[in-house]
Amino acid sequence: MTATLITGIVELVTNDPARGDGSPLGIVRDAAVVADENTVLWVGPETEAPAADRRVALGGCAVVPGFVDPHTHLVFAGDRSNEFTARMAGERYDGGGIASTVSATRAASDDELRRHMVARATEARRQGTTTLEIKSGYGLTVTDEVRLLRIARGITDETTFLGAHVVPADADRDEYVRLVSGAMLDACAPHARWIDVFCEPGSAHAFDGDEARTILRAGRAAGLDLRVHGNQLGPGPGVQLAVELGAASVDHCTHLDDADVDALAGGDTVATLLPGAEFSTRSPYPDARGLLDAGATVALATDCNPGTSFTSSMPFVIALAVREMGMTPAEALWAATAGAAAALRRADIGRIAPGARADLAVLAAPSFIHLAYRPGVPLARVLDLAERA
Ligand code: NIG
Ligand code: FE
Repeated sequence: MTATLITGIVELVTNDPARGDGSPLGIVRDAAVVADENTVLWVGPETEAPAADRRVALGGCAVVPGFVDPHTHLVFAGDRSNEFTARMAGERYDGGGIASTVSATRAASDDELRRHMVARATEARRQGTTTLEIKSGYGLTVTDEVRLLRIARGITDETTFLGAHVVPADADRDEYVRLVSGAMLDACAPHARWIDVFCEPGSAHAFDGDEARTILRAGRAAGLDLRVHGNQLGPGPGVQLAVELGAASVDHCTHLDDADVDALAGGDTVATLLPGAEFSTRSPYPDARGLLDAGATVALATDCNPGTSFTSSMPFVIALAVREMGMTPAEALWAATAGAAAALRRADIGRIAPGARADLAVLAAPSFIHLAYRPGVPLARVLDLAERA
Protein backbone atom coordinates (compact mmCIF):
# COMPACT_ATOMS: atom_id res chain seq x y z
CA MET A 1 0.00 0.00 0.00
CA THR A 2 1.18 3.50 -0.85
CA ALA A 3 -0.15 6.43 1.19
CA THR A 4 -0.79 9.53 -0.92
CA LEU A 5 -1.11 13.04 0.53
CA ILE A 6 -3.57 15.08 -1.55
CA THR A 7 -3.19 18.85 -1.16
CA GLY A 8 -4.46 22.01 -2.84
CA ILE A 9 -8.12 21.29 -1.98
CA VAL A 10 -9.84 24.66 -1.55
CA GLU A 11 -13.13 23.05 -0.57
CA LEU A 12 -13.42 19.48 0.72
CA VAL A 13 -16.90 18.00 1.11
CA THR A 14 -16.63 15.19 3.68
CA ASN A 15 -20.36 14.54 4.42
CA ASP A 16 -19.18 14.27 8.03
CA PRO A 17 -21.10 16.93 9.99
CA ALA A 18 -18.60 16.62 12.86
CA ARG A 19 -15.98 18.27 10.63
CA GLY A 20 -15.37 21.71 9.18
CA ASP A 21 -18.34 24.04 8.93
CA GLY A 22 -20.66 21.70 10.85
CA SER A 23 -23.20 21.54 8.00
CA PRO A 24 -24.42 18.13 6.73
CA LEU A 25 -21.73 18.39 4.03
CA GLY A 26 -18.97 18.85 6.66
CA ILE A 27 -17.01 21.25 4.46
CA VAL A 28 -13.31 21.72 5.29
CA ARG A 29 -11.57 24.65 3.56
CA ASP A 30 -7.90 24.49 2.43
CA ALA A 31 -7.93 20.82 3.24
CA ALA A 32 -5.78 17.76 2.66
CA VAL A 33 -6.54 14.05 2.53
CA VAL A 34 -4.25 11.06 3.03
CA ALA A 35 -5.41 7.83 1.42
CA ASP A 36 -3.98 4.56 0.18
CA GLU A 37 -5.34 2.84 -2.93
CA ASN A 38 -8.40 1.59 -1.03
CA THR A 39 -9.04 3.61 2.10
CA VAL A 40 -9.04 7.16 3.44
CA LEU A 41 -6.47 7.40 6.26
CA TRP A 42 -6.59 11.07 7.33
CA VAL A 43 -8.68 14.21 6.62
CA GLY A 44 -8.10 17.76 7.89
CA PRO A 45 -6.66 21.22 7.28
CA GLU A 46 -3.65 21.16 4.96
CA THR A 47 -1.53 22.95 7.59
CA GLU A 48 -1.91 19.92 9.88
CA ALA A 49 -1.38 17.20 7.27
CA PRO A 50 0.95 14.31 8.17
CA ALA A 51 3.69 13.11 5.82
CA ALA A 52 2.95 10.33 3.31
CA ASP A 53 4.79 8.22 0.74
CA ARG A 54 3.86 10.53 -2.12
CA ARG A 55 2.04 13.77 -2.77
CA VAL A 56 -0.56 14.94 -5.31
CA ALA A 57 -1.07 18.73 -5.48
CA LEU A 58 -4.44 19.64 -6.98
CA GLY A 59 -3.76 23.37 -7.18
CA GLY A 60 -7.06 24.79 -5.96
CA CYS A 61 -9.91 22.36 -6.74
CA ALA A 62 -13.00 21.30 -4.84
CA VAL A 63 -13.06 17.61 -3.86
CA VAL A 64 -16.28 15.72 -3.11
CA PRO A 65 -17.06 12.06 -2.36
CA GLY A 66 -17.22 10.04 -5.58
CA PHE A 67 -20.81 9.95 -6.81
CA VAL A 68 -22.86 6.88 -5.90
CA ASP A 69 -25.37 5.96 -8.62
CA PRO A 70 -27.85 3.62 -6.88
CA HIS A 71 -30.17 2.96 -9.85
CA THR A 72 -29.05 1.96 -13.36
CA HIS A 73 -30.04 -0.50 -16.06
CA LEU A 74 -26.62 -0.62 -17.77
CA VAL A 75 -26.80 -4.10 -19.35
CA PHE A 76 -28.80 -3.89 -22.57
CA ALA A 77 -28.49 -3.84 -26.34
CA GLY A 78 -30.38 -1.86 -28.98
CA ASP A 79 -31.41 1.73 -29.47
CA ARG A 80 -34.65 3.58 -28.77
CA SER A 81 -33.78 7.03 -30.05
CA ASN A 82 -36.85 6.96 -32.30
CA GLU A 83 -39.06 6.43 -29.24
CA PHE A 84 -37.41 9.48 -27.66
CA THR A 85 -38.07 11.55 -30.78
CA ALA A 86 -41.73 10.47 -30.75
CA ARG A 87 -42.04 11.48 -27.09
CA MET A 88 -40.57 14.88 -27.77
CA ALA A 89 -43.34 15.22 -30.37
CA GLY A 90 -45.97 14.50 -27.71
CA GLU A 91 -46.21 10.71 -27.32
CA ARG A 92 -46.55 9.35 -23.76
CA TYR A 93 -44.25 6.83 -22.07
CA ASP A 94 -46.02 3.71 -20.72
CA GLY A 95 -43.25 1.08 -20.53
CA GLY A 96 -44.30 -0.58 -23.80
CA GLY A 97 -40.93 0.17 -25.42
CA ILE A 98 -39.15 -2.09 -22.92
CA ALA A 99 -40.13 -5.06 -25.15
CA SER A 100 -37.89 -3.85 -27.98
CA THR A 101 -34.87 -3.63 -25.64
CA VAL A 102 -35.68 -7.14 -24.38
CA SER A 103 -35.58 -8.48 -27.98
CA ALA A 104 -32.29 -6.73 -28.78
CA THR A 105 -30.75 -7.84 -25.48
CA ARG A 106 -31.73 -11.50 -25.90
CA ALA A 107 -30.20 -11.46 -29.39
CA ALA A 108 -26.88 -9.96 -28.22
CA SER A 109 -23.86 -12.05 -27.24
CA ASP A 110 -22.33 -11.88 -23.76
CA ASP A 111 -19.32 -10.06 -25.21
CA GLU A 112 -21.45 -7.48 -26.91
CA LEU A 113 -23.48 -6.83 -23.73
CA ARG A 114 -20.31 -6.62 -21.65
CA ARG A 115 -18.69 -4.16 -24.05
CA HIS A 116 -21.72 -1.85 -24.02
CA MET A 117 -21.99 -2.04 -20.23
CA VAL A 118 -18.31 -1.30 -19.67
CA ALA A 119 -18.47 1.65 -22.09
CA ARG A 120 -21.40 3.11 -20.12
CA ALA A 121 -19.68 2.48 -16.77
CA THR A 122 -16.52 4.15 -18.09
CA GLU A 123 -18.61 7.12 -19.21
CA ALA A 124 -20.06 7.35 -15.67
CA ARG A 125 -16.60 7.18 -14.07
CA ARG A 126 -15.34 9.96 -16.34
CA GLN A 127 -18.05 12.11 -14.74
CA GLY A 128 -17.12 11.30 -11.15
CA THR A 129 -19.15 8.16 -10.37
CA THR A 130 -17.30 5.61 -8.21
CA THR A 131 -20.15 3.19 -7.29
CA LEU A 132 -22.84 1.82 -9.62
CA GLU A 133 -25.86 -0.33 -8.89
CA ILE A 134 -26.89 -2.35 -11.97
CA LYS A 135 -30.22 -4.12 -12.59
CA SER A 136 -31.16 -6.98 -14.85
CA GLY A 137 -34.63 -6.75 -16.37
CA TYR A 138 -34.09 -6.89 -20.14
CA GLY A 139 -33.79 -10.68 -20.29
CA LEU A 140 -37.05 -11.90 -18.72
CA THR A 141 -36.21 -15.59 -19.18
CA VAL A 142 -34.34 -17.62 -16.57
CA THR A 143 -31.29 -17.94 -18.82
CA ASP A 144 -31.21 -14.32 -19.92
CA GLU A 145 -31.77 -12.82 -16.46
CA VAL A 146 -28.93 -14.95 -15.05
CA ARG A 147 -26.76 -13.88 -18.00
CA LEU A 148 -27.37 -10.16 -17.38
CA LEU A 149 -26.67 -10.47 -13.64
CA ARG A 150 -23.44 -12.42 -14.22
CA ILE A 151 -22.28 -9.73 -16.64
CA ALA A 152 -23.19 -6.93 -14.20
CA ARG A 153 -21.37 -8.78 -11.36
CA GLY A 154 -18.22 -8.44 -13.42
CA ILE A 155 -18.05 -4.75 -12.47
CA THR A 156 -20.15 -4.28 -9.30
CA ASP A 157 -21.37 -6.12 -6.20
CA GLU A 158 -24.52 -3.96 -6.24
CA THR A 159 -26.52 -6.13 -8.63
CA THR A 160 -30.32 -6.20 -8.65
CA PHE A 161 -32.61 -8.93 -9.97
CA LEU A 162 -35.40 -7.18 -11.92
CA GLY A 163 -37.14 -10.12 -13.56
CA ALA A 164 -40.30 -8.23 -12.55
CA HIS A 165 -39.59 -5.37 -14.94
CA VAL A 166 -42.52 -6.13 -17.26
CA VAL A 167 -44.60 -9.19 -18.15
CA PRO A 168 -43.06 -10.50 -21.43
CA ALA A 169 -45.36 -10.06 -24.43
CA ASP A 170 -45.94 -13.80 -24.94
CA ALA A 171 -46.36 -14.73 -21.25
CA ASP A 172 -49.39 -15.37 -19.06
CA ARG A 173 -49.31 -12.81 -16.23
CA ASP A 174 -49.97 -15.19 -13.31
CA GLU A 175 -47.57 -17.80 -14.63
CA TYR A 176 -44.87 -15.15 -15.07
CA VAL A 177 -45.32 -13.91 -11.47
CA ARG A 178 -44.90 -17.54 -10.34
CA LEU A 179 -41.75 -17.90 -12.45
CA VAL A 180 -40.18 -14.65 -11.18
CA SER A 181 -40.87 -15.60 -7.56
CA GLY A 182 -39.90 -19.25 -8.12
CA ALA A 183 -37.45 -20.81 -10.58
CA MET A 184 -36.13 -17.52 -12.00
CA LEU A 185 -35.49 -16.13 -8.52
CA ASP A 186 -33.70 -19.33 -7.44
CA ALA A 187 -31.40 -19.13 -10.46
CA CYS A 188 -30.76 -15.39 -10.11
CA ALA A 189 -30.40 -14.98 -6.33
CA PRO A 190 -26.76 -16.20 -6.20
CA HIS A 191 -25.80 -13.38 -8.60
CA ALA A 192 -27.72 -10.54 -6.94
CA ARG A 193 -27.73 -8.53 -3.73
CA TRP A 194 -31.14 -6.94 -4.37
CA ILE A 195 -34.56 -7.67 -5.86
CA ASP A 196 -36.65 -4.93 -7.49
CA VAL A 197 -40.17 -4.78 -8.99
CA PHE A 198 -41.66 -2.24 -11.42
CA CYS A 199 -44.84 -1.64 -9.40
CA GLU A 200 -47.16 0.46 -11.56
CA PRO A 201 -50.77 -0.77 -11.58
CA GLY A 202 -51.72 1.84 -14.19
CA SER A 203 -49.35 0.28 -16.77
CA ALA A 204 -50.52 -2.79 -18.68
CA HIS A 205 -46.90 -3.99 -18.76
CA ALA A 206 -45.81 -3.66 -15.12
CA PHE A 207 -47.00 -5.19 -11.81
CA ASP A 208 -49.74 -4.27 -9.35
CA GLY A 209 -49.36 -4.07 -5.56
CA ASP A 210 -50.34 -7.69 -4.85
CA GLU A 211 -48.02 -9.06 -7.52
CA ALA A 212 -45.19 -6.84 -6.28
CA ARG A 213 -45.72 -7.99 -2.68
CA THR A 214 -45.61 -11.68 -3.70
CA ILE A 215 -42.38 -11.18 -5.66
CA LEU A 216 -40.65 -9.02 -3.04
CA ARG A 217 -41.52 -11.44 -0.22
CA ALA A 218 -40.16 -14.36 -2.23
CA GLY A 219 -36.99 -12.33 -2.90
CA ARG A 220 -36.49 -11.66 0.78
CA ALA A 221 -37.00 -15.35 1.59
CA ALA A 222 -34.26 -16.10 -0.98
CA GLY A 223 -31.88 -13.78 0.90
CA LEU A 224 -32.16 -10.64 -1.24
CA ASP A 225 -32.79 -7.13 0.07
CA LEU A 226 -35.53 -5.04 -1.45
CA ARG A 227 -35.85 -2.04 -3.78
CA VAL A 228 -38.94 -0.90 -5.68
CA HIS A 229 -39.73 1.12 -8.82
CA GLY A 230 -42.79 2.96 -7.50
CA ASN A 231 -45.19 5.78 -8.36
CA GLN A 232 -43.41 6.72 -11.58
CA LEU A 233 -46.28 7.03 -14.04
CA GLY A 234 -49.16 7.65 -11.64
CA PRO A 235 -50.29 7.23 -8.04
CA GLY A 236 -50.11 3.69 -6.69
CA PRO A 237 -49.18 1.35 -3.85
CA GLY A 238 -45.43 1.14 -4.59
CA VAL A 239 -44.20 3.62 -2.02
CA GLN A 240 -46.35 2.32 0.84
CA LEU A 241 -45.44 -1.27 0.01
CA ALA A 242 -41.72 -0.45 -0.05
CA VAL A 243 -41.90 1.21 3.38
CA GLU A 244 -44.09 -1.55 4.84
CA LEU A 245 -41.66 -4.27 3.66
CA GLY A 246 -38.60 -2.30 4.80
CA ALA A 247 -37.12 -1.83 1.32
CA ALA A 248 -33.83 0.07 1.25
CA SER A 249 -35.18 2.40 -1.41
CA VAL A 250 -38.24 3.25 -3.48
CA ASP A 251 -37.29 4.84 -6.75
CA HIS A 252 -39.00 7.47 -8.95
CA CYS A 253 -41.59 8.74 -6.37
CA THR A 254 -43.00 11.08 -8.99
CA HIS A 255 -46.68 10.82 -8.03
CA LEU A 256 -47.02 10.92 -4.24
CA ASP A 257 -49.94 11.78 -1.96
CA ASP A 258 -49.61 13.01 1.63
CA ALA A 259 -49.79 9.48 3.05
CA ASP A 260 -46.88 8.40 0.80
CA VAL A 261 -44.77 11.34 1.98
CA ASP A 262 -45.65 10.62 5.63
CA ALA A 263 -44.73 6.95 5.18
CA LEU A 264 -41.33 7.88 3.70
CA ALA A 265 -40.71 10.45 6.43
CA GLY A 266 -41.57 7.92 9.15
CA GLY A 267 -39.79 4.86 7.71
CA ASP A 268 -36.26 3.70 6.86
CA THR A 269 -36.83 3.60 3.11
CA VAL A 270 -34.89 6.14 1.05
CA ALA A 271 -36.77 8.06 -1.67
CA THR A 272 -34.52 7.84 -4.73
CA LEU A 273 -35.42 10.47 -7.32
CA LEU A 274 -34.54 10.03 -11.00
CA PRO A 275 -35.08 13.40 -12.69
CA GLY A 276 -33.36 12.21 -15.89
CA ALA A 277 -36.52 10.12 -16.46
CA GLU A 278 -38.82 13.13 -16.13
CA PHE A 279 -36.49 15.10 -18.41
CA SER A 280 -36.52 12.42 -21.13
CA THR A 281 -40.22 11.60 -20.88
CA ARG A 282 -41.23 15.26 -20.57
CA SER A 283 -43.07 14.59 -17.31
CA PRO A 284 -43.59 16.64 -14.15
CA TYR A 285 -40.69 16.31 -11.71
CA PRO A 286 -41.09 14.73 -8.23
CA ASP A 287 -41.62 17.05 -5.28
CA ALA A 288 -38.17 16.79 -3.72
CA ARG A 289 -38.78 19.89 -1.62
CA GLY A 290 -41.91 18.37 -0.04
CA LEU A 291 -40.05 15.14 0.76
CA LEU A 292 -37.09 16.95 2.32
CA ASP A 293 -39.28 19.31 4.33
CA ALA A 294 -41.25 16.32 5.67
CA GLY A 295 -37.98 14.70 6.83
CA ALA A 296 -37.58 11.91 4.26
CA THR A 297 -34.10 10.78 3.18
CA VAL A 298 -33.66 11.62 -0.50
CA ALA A 299 -31.16 10.10 -2.95
CA LEU A 300 -30.48 10.91 -6.59
CA ALA A 301 -29.64 8.45 -9.38
CA THR A 302 -29.38 8.46 -13.17
CA ASP A 303 -31.74 5.50 -13.93
CA CYS A 304 -29.44 5.08 -16.96
CA ASN A 305 -31.53 3.03 -19.43
CA PRO A 306 -32.39 3.22 -23.14
CA GLY A 307 -36.06 4.13 -22.63
CA THR A 308 -36.59 6.82 -20.05
CA SER A 309 -33.17 8.24 -19.15
CA PHE A 310 -30.16 7.50 -21.32
CA THR A 311 -27.70 9.50 -19.25
CA SER A 312 -24.83 8.24 -17.11
CA SER A 313 -24.14 11.68 -15.68
CA MET A 314 -24.66 12.31 -11.96
CA PRO A 315 -23.66 16.00 -12.43
CA PHE A 316 -26.51 16.35 -14.95
CA VAL A 317 -28.91 14.80 -12.41
CA ILE A 318 -27.64 17.19 -9.71
CA ALA A 319 -28.23 20.16 -12.02
CA LEU A 320 -31.80 18.98 -12.74
CA ALA A 321 -32.47 18.44 -9.03
CA VAL A 322 -31.45 22.01 -8.27
CA ARG A 323 -33.10 23.69 -11.26
CA GLU A 324 -36.29 21.61 -11.48
CA MET A 325 -36.93 20.04 -8.06
CA GLY A 326 -36.22 22.85 -5.62
CA MET A 327 -33.20 21.20 -3.98
CA THR A 328 -30.35 23.43 -2.83
CA PRO A 329 -26.95 22.65 -4.39
CA ALA A 330 -25.90 21.24 -0.99
CA GLU A 331 -28.97 18.99 -0.71
CA ALA A 332 -28.47 17.72 -4.25
CA LEU A 333 -24.79 16.87 -3.70
CA TRP A 334 -25.62 15.13 -0.40
CA ALA A 335 -28.38 13.13 -2.14
CA ALA A 336 -25.97 12.06 -4.93
CA THR A 337 -23.35 10.84 -2.43
CA ALA A 338 -24.42 10.19 1.19
CA GLY A 339 -28.13 9.80 0.34
CA ALA A 340 -27.31 7.42 -2.49
CA ALA A 341 -25.02 5.41 -0.18
CA ALA A 342 -27.96 5.15 2.27
CA ALA A 343 -30.15 3.88 -0.60
CA LEU A 344 -27.63 1.03 -0.95
CA ARG A 345 -27.30 0.66 2.84
CA ARG A 346 -23.57 1.32 2.58
CA ALA A 347 -21.58 3.18 5.26
CA ASP A 348 -18.19 2.86 3.54
CA ILE A 349 -18.98 5.12 0.57
CA GLY A 350 -20.59 8.54 0.01
CA ARG A 351 -18.31 10.28 2.54
CA ILE A 352 -14.66 11.20 2.93
CA ALA A 353 -13.52 10.18 6.40
CA PRO A 354 -10.88 7.85 7.86
CA GLY A 355 -11.95 4.26 7.18
CA ALA A 356 -14.18 5.10 4.21
CA ARG A 357 -13.27 3.90 0.73
CA ALA A 358 -10.84 6.17 -1.09
CA ASP A 359 -13.48 7.24 -3.63
CA LEU A 360 -12.81 10.89 -4.40
CA ALA A 361 -14.10 13.11 -7.19
CA VAL A 362 -12.07 16.18 -8.12
CA LEU A 363 -13.92 19.15 -9.61
CA ALA A 364 -12.33 21.60 -12.03
CA ALA A 365 -14.03 24.31 -9.98
CA PRO A 366 -13.58 26.06 -6.64
CA SER A 367 -16.88 24.81 -5.20
CA PHE A 368 -19.38 21.95 -5.50
CA ILE A 369 -22.00 24.61 -6.32
CA HIS A 370 -20.53 24.70 -9.83
CA LEU A 371 -21.98 21.23 -10.51
CA ALA A 372 -25.39 22.89 -10.94
CA TYR A 373 -24.15 26.39 -11.75
CA ARG A 374 -22.23 25.14 -14.82
CA PRO A 375 -24.57 22.46 -16.24
CA GLY A 376 -23.26 20.29 -19.05
CA VAL A 377 -19.62 21.19 -18.38
CA PRO A 378 -17.41 18.16 -17.60
CA LEU A 379 -16.08 19.36 -14.24
CA ALA A 380 -15.87 16.09 -12.30
CA ARG A 381 -13.29 13.31 -12.55
CA VAL A 382 -12.41 10.41 -10.30
CA LEU A 383 -9.03 10.70 -8.55
CA ASP A 384 -7.27 7.48 -9.51
CA LEU A 385 -4.98 6.70 -6.58
CA ALA A 386 -3.98 3.29 -7.90
CA GLU A 387 -2.73 4.80 -11.15
CA ARG A 388 -0.72 7.39 -9.29
CA ALA A 389 0.80 4.88 -6.85
O1 NIG B 1 -36.77 3.06 -14.43
N1 NIG B 1 -39.80 2.21 -15.26
C1 NIG B 1 -39.28 1.16 -15.51
N2 NIG B 1 -38.04 0.93 -15.92
C2 NIG B 1 -37.15 1.95 -16.43
C3 NIG B 1 -37.39 2.22 -17.87
C4 NIG B 1 -37.08 1.06 -18.71
C5 NIG B 1 -37.21 1.28 -20.18
O2 NIG B 1 -38.08 2.05 -20.65
O3 NIG B 1 -36.44 0.62 -20.89
C6 NIG B 1 -37.20 3.19 -15.57
O4 NIG B 1 -37.62 4.27 -15.98
FE1 FE C 1 -35.31 2.25 -13.47
